[in-house]
Amino acid sequence: MSDNNRSRVLSGIQPSGLLHLGNYFGMMSRMIEYQSNNELFCFIANYHALTSTPTSETLSDNTFNAACDFLALGLDPEKSTFWVQSDVPKVTELMWILASHTGVGLLDRATSYKDKISQGITPNVGLYSYPVLMAADILLFDTELVPVGKDQKQHLEIARDIAIRFNNSYGNTLVIPEPDIEKDNQLIPGIDGKKMSKSYNNTIPIFETEKKIRNKIMKIVTDTANIDEPKDKETPLFQLFSLFLDREGKSQLSDRYDNKGLRYGDVKSELFQKIMDYFYPYREKRASIVNKPKEVREILSYGAKKANLIADKVLDRVRSSVGINYLK
Ligand code: TRP
Repeated sequence: MSDNNRSRVLSGIQPSGLLHLGNYFGMMSRMIEYQSNNELFCFIANYHALTSTPTSETLSDNTFNAACDFLALGLDPEKSTFWVQSDVPKVTELMWILASHTGVGLLDRATSYKDKISQGITPNVGLYSYPVLMAADILLFDTELVPVGKDQKQHLEIARDIAIRFNNSYGNTLVIPEPDIEKDNQLIPGIDGKKMSKSYNNTIPIFETEKKIRNKIMKIVTDTANIDEPKDKETPLFQLFSLFLDREGKSQLSDRYDNKGLRYGDVKSELFQKIMDYFYPYREKRASIVNKPKEVREILSYGAKKANLIADKVLDRVRSSVGINYLK
């Protein structure tokens, strides 16, 4: 399906507002790595974002901003295929075909749906069908590998299940995707020590103003160890700082934690500086991209063109398999 020994890798990200360190070290940097040795397909899942019914302006702004984020962080529209989900609207047709082959029982077991309900959200049919749309995203491009966070593991199993059943009924039509789930050590803690996530409001944003980023860093929870006591390293401040250190730097910080005299306030200021230095080129690039919406639009429509070429072929195969292509 794909050329040489390169795997076809696909992932999507919901446009849901400010990108943070957890997104960057969890997903983005992995995807950007994939683009050099594999055939990367990467899209902004705006149809998925619609299931939580944002306002019209929020959805469109977030979609544009997510595109700027990806481009600023090094996603290369020539090396990869990068588009906005709704610019390949055939994905919704595949979703309908798949939905017609998906048992309600399979979706009833989806834990992310159950979680949302238990939070008191009144579900819409889109939210319930979310995993079928995600399966369509993946299967429409003959995807071989899907890098996702742990929270998406079950959605990937559902996609595989749907594809396997489909092939059992109609013969080999769909490529069965393999998951590539983030490891435990890739879990990035938020400023309160829980997993960094927008829904916990514990993130450190990458593209916010310096002042806001500094404020967040100053709020990282620490213990009340005295200045002349050794400090605990299984803590978010140490773990977050480690993301920006090589082996030597990490062992130096570790020594400082083990010895007397360490002030958390100093470590926080140093971490702030590290983050600003690390993201400086990305922040500069983003600032320039944001002011060129026309160029962003051109990049996205170029990506959509490439994506549509493949989607057309795969969907045609599926339409023939199920008999929607009625002229023989
Ligand atoms: N559900 C994914 C998330 O919230 C986003 C997504 C949508 C996705 N479609 C996908 C991820 C297809 C991988 C493949 O993170």
